[in-house]
Amino acid sequence: MIKPTEYVSRIKPYVPGKPIEELERELGIKDSVKLASNENPTGPSPWALQAISNSLNSLNRYPDGSGYYLKNALSEKLSKNPPLPSDKSPFPPLTKGGGRGITYRVSTEEIILGNGSNELIDIAVRTFLGPGDEAVMAHPSFVVYSMAVQSVGGGGVQVPLKDYKHDLDAMADAVTSKTRILFIANPNNPTGTINTRTEFDRLMERLPDGMLVVVDEAYHEYVTDPEYADSLKHFRAGRDILILRTFSKIYGLAGLRIGYGVARQDIVAEMNKIRAPFNTNSIAQRAATEALRDEEHVNRSREINEEGKKFLYQELDSLGLKYIPTETNFIYMPIEQDSKTIYEALLKQGVIVRPIGQKEIRVTIGLPEENKRFIEVLKAVLSE
Ligand SMILES: Cc1ncc(COP(=O)(O)O)c(C=O)c1O
Repeated sequence: MIKPTEYVSRIKPYVPGKPIEELERELGIKDSVKLASNENPTGPSPWALQAISNSLNSLNRYPDGSGYYLKNALSEKLSKNPPLPSDKSPFPPLTKGGGRGITYRVSTEEIILGNGSNELIDIAVRTFLGPGDEAVMAHPSFVVYSMAVQSVGGGGVQVPLKDYKHDLDAMADAVTSKTRILFIANPNNPTGTINTRTEFDRLMERLPDGMLVVVDEAYHEYVTDPEYADSLKHFRAGRDILILRTFSKIYGLAGLRIGYGVARQDIVAEMNKIRAPFNTNSIAQRAATEALRDEEHVNRSREINEEGKKFLYQELDSLGLKYIPTETNFIYMPIEQDSKTIYEALLKQGVIVRPIGQKEIRVTIGLPEENKRFIEVLKAVLSE
């Protein structure tokens, strides 16, 4: 009987959540609320939807393997780096932090597209790390990092969070001559915390040349803290850094699977060697190009998220529940009860959250009515 490689046989399988329809059928419930995967509850941009319907007639053709138009749109957007949020937003434009308001030229040769940023994590690992090599990552953080590293026979060195944040000093201490990659989720999933510019700059000063820093910024567009680290600065300074972003979160296109990476041209060229020629599909490329232009949709999504955050903070405060202030579209809650028990009790009432570890849950900030429903059901479950 065929056997997987030794490396793959050691991986604990990722257990995907059941489709919402399946859960509803099993539990005999209707109108459940999915607050488990940090998706944008407002839906995709109408411009993206229009682009999708315009693309349907050409589905007999292969996509553009180079992603020409999307990479050009990204290059233009990143190079202009318009201050976010927009002037019309109730939130003041940020002039520092996150590279916002600061211009860095990013050429199309410095961009790589992926089937979700998830695929780019895999490609980066397969390009730069081999059997016996190590990757340093935080714990808890995005689980895909360690799975990708294990799949090629590498070892993951997990550094515990400190105050729910990446402990970048401890992560720098964990680097050895075997380290090829250091992963940072900024903001972090599941805790929603960020690392500041000062912390990140200090880390970059300490790291040796010849290892890749992967900065996963899947939730970048939600961040409002002006102290947010500026990873593009280090890319532009020529460092070994890969910045990952996605259309799955604020852009509302998780189902299409498209994300991108920014890195030096030679890093992108090496990763392109093992990228499947048509890894991103034509619908996703076109929808993402339009979503990128629709700043109003992004700003509205951010505003709805900020309002939802405020509401949830107030309600959780009044219930005396602990939560970690978030820079994302989800909230991490250390609880007193067993997380699986609470998760299942919420599920039975039609609210799907994510249990994390033994005594934590993570809830995605939803639409106002979804947030209200979560709070009502949580109250009921906790008083049982
Ligand atoms: C930190 C982080 N990185 C990457 C991803 C994957 O995003 P994508 O849909 O672009 O593969 C997620 C999705 O949940 C995430 O939370």
